[in-house]
Amino acid sequence: MTLLRDRELARAFDHASHTYDRLTTLNPGYRTDLLRSARRLRLPRAGAGMHVLDLGCGTGASTAALLRAAPRARITAVDASSGMLRRALAKRWPDSVSFRHLTAEEVTTTGEGTYDAVFAAYLFRNVTDPDGVLAAVRSLLRPGGRLAVHEYSLSGSAAHRALWKAVCHGVIIPAGTLSGDRALYRHLCRSVLDFDTVPAFTARLADAGFTGVRAAPVAGWQAGIVHTFVARNGAAGPATEDVR
Ligand SMILES: C[S@@+](CC[C@H](N)C(=O)[O-])C[C@H]1O[C@@H](n2cnc3c(N)ncnc32)[C@H](O)[C@@H]1O
Repeated sequence: MTLLRDRELARAFDHASHTYDRLTTLNPGYRTDLLRSARRLRLPRAGAGMHVLDLGCGTGASTAALLRAAPRARITAVDASSGMLRRALAKRWPDSVSFRHLTAEEVTTTGEGTYDAVFAAYLFRNVTDPDGVLAAVRSLLRPGGRLAVHEYSLSGSAAHRALWKAVCHGVIIPAGTLSGDRALYRHLCRSVLDFDTVPAFTARLADAGFTGVRAAPVAGWQAGIVHTFVARNGAAGPATEDVR
């Protein structure tokens, strides 16, 4: 199984964009888990006066979660795939939400100033240089700004790895084959197995200079497979800060 990267990956998402929302609707908890992670940003006063970046927004499922978690924030959502963005733009959004066709690597060039928070759902596993993108995110966040990464990152236990492989062979690859996107869904399976486990990604965030790094599982069958990582740029939160 080969991983897809950069333009090849964007083209695969362009193609898959037609069926993406339908397939993710079949995944129990997909949208609830995104909302749980967006809420873990703990944006005060429903995000009033805040500017939030949704990095790798896809068809807008993560953007919708952010909007529910922080309805008073201004949200800029970016993605490398024009096809995914077209699907997002076809939905109804308030004026506080805008979309840009940009890669995570290019996002520092927008000149939009700093952000109060960044949300990245199912992005980091896909990027060629996660440390480079984390450095870019830090440069975009105001001091003390918050990051939430929602990602397929395995707990490190053999049981969760085995469950993921079983779901891939039994559900994800057959569904991707039926939808005509076999390469992308094989990439999904492989990229999760190759990506950082929870302790490794937690360490990567700390090495990148983030503070108060915490990881928490989502609920349901993906517990131990999908996690939310929350962190701050610089100034650490209270040492006892918990993620629920
Ligand atoms: C699995 S989808 C998730 C979309 C959305 N965040 C969600 O939760 O439904 C991953 C998205 O990340 C985008 N992506 C992958 N690599 C990227 C990069 N380097 N820069 C920007 N977007 C990227 C893809 O185009 C795709 O839309």
